[in-house]
Amino acid sequence: MCKENLNSLFLFILNDIIRLGDTMPKRKRRLKVKWKNVFKLLSVILVIIFAFKGISYLYFNNKVFNDIKGSKLTIKTNKKQIKLSKKNVEYINSSNVKVKIKSKKLTYNLKNEYINNITNLKIHLYKDKIKEDGFNNSKGYFISDDKIKTGNVTVKLPFFLSHKKVVDVYGVKGNDYIKEYTKKVKNKQITFKYNSDYDRYVITYVKLKEIRVDSEQINMVKNRTRKILINIIPAKATNNKIKYIDVDKKYISIKNNIIKSKKDGKTSFIIKVDNKKIKMFVNITSKKFDVTKVNGIYYVDGLMLVNKSYPIREDYNPGELNEETKTAFAKLQNDAYAEGINVWIVSGFRSYSKQKELYDDYVSKEGQEKADTYSARPGYSEHQTGYAFDVNEATDKFNNTKEAKWLEKNAHKYGFILRFPKNKEDSTGYKYESWHLRYVGKDKAILIHNSGLSLEEYYGINSKYKD
Ligand code: DAL
Ligand code: ZN
Repeated sequence: MCKENLNSLFLFILNDIIRLGDTMPKRKRRLKVKWKNVFKLLSVILVIIFAFKGISYLYFNNKVFNDIKGSKLTIKTNKKQIKLSKKNVEYINSSNVKVKIKSKKLTYNLKNEYINNITNLKIHLYKDKIKEDGFNNSKGYFISDDKIKTGNVTVKLPFFLSHKKVVDVYGVKGNDYIKEYTKKVKNKQITFKYNSDYDRYVITYVKLKEIRVDSEQINMVKNRTRKILINIIPAKATNNKIKYIDVDKKYISIKNNIIKSKKDGKTSFIIKVDNKKIKMFVNITSKKFDVTKVNGIYYVDGLMLVNKSYPIREDYNPGELNEETKTAFAKLQNDAYAEGINVWIVSGFRSYSKQKELYDDYVSKEGQEKADTYSARPGYSEHQTGYAFDVNEATDKFNNTKEAKWLEKNAHKYGFILRFPKNKEDSTGYKYESWHLRYVGKDKAILIHNSGLSLEEYYGINSKYKD
């Protein structure tokens, strides 16, 4: 709110409160007070007071002084006296200064030990907002005082924290905020063990803004598990304990954010974090996915299936990637590009003989056991289906790149799954490949992706060579 606006608002309300009763007979003319408007004025005054609140603490050579009123802060040098106002963030160069800080209650005369040998005296005035990322601009109460260098300290909390049930205590070292405790507030104070390794401490309450889940609708097959991906915003929220309410144990059980399906049917439950809630809906079916073989090719749920258990016949050779796959990738590529992400196909369709060439080369260089962890034997590669391909750089260097992260987050929206996900070696039979995509169509890709499962886990199938 700018000053001019406040002034005009103030005058407007004042005008409204005090009016001479013009219409009254002259002898009865007196001040008429409208109480409703008096309250209005008082509220405006309060807003003004809060809006122009002074500096709340001062940080001086690793010491923090709370409740500093900017206007009363004076720095005395032998030559001049500098007044700091709340607008100043001052760095004063002087070798011989005396610093006197007047706060609301106390006057600090900074001891010589703090000032001696300081050629570059730095005094920094702070507002009480924590500016570091993840605090959502929360207010903090900063402390560092000689009295509390060691052992247990009891801190009387300022008004903005004393009414909270719990508060967080962060130790600050340089620019790092390290969470030490979440403490229950008792009698408007907390007690915690002070560790002098920290430059200072900050006590704060970070309000939860939002909780998000990857999908509010969960489709599951009976007797399967699925991780619920929950995003707490800000991640540093003080009350971030996840609770599950109204869980019908006949259908599901939930532990450590993993949901297990027990019985066919529809059910729902609520995720609660602090005062925020999300209702989740779960559909459970005991649908069995049978693997069928048509013309020497295996299928599951209408998808061509190739892995270590299900080979593809040697002469199957579409010659290139399937049309639907190419179209879906072109769309993905375009959208990714618009977000500054560049992806391209580096290896698409591979014939039986091409795969043989590759595999034999790996075996000759690293031995069969090692090669089997990352390369398919001829006749066992998904590349031969025309539905799978590698992007950009098909090596571990691609993991953790912004492109790989984008694909992990978005590929399913275009009908692709990351066919060899992280930590799924046991079910897929291959180590993590952040670059290998498989087209399965949008609906299935979303379901498989949201299940947090590999394709083998999702359909309950194996991927193991016979020998
Ligand atoms: N790299 C994958 C497993 C393949 O060779 O098909
Ligand atoms: Zn591949």
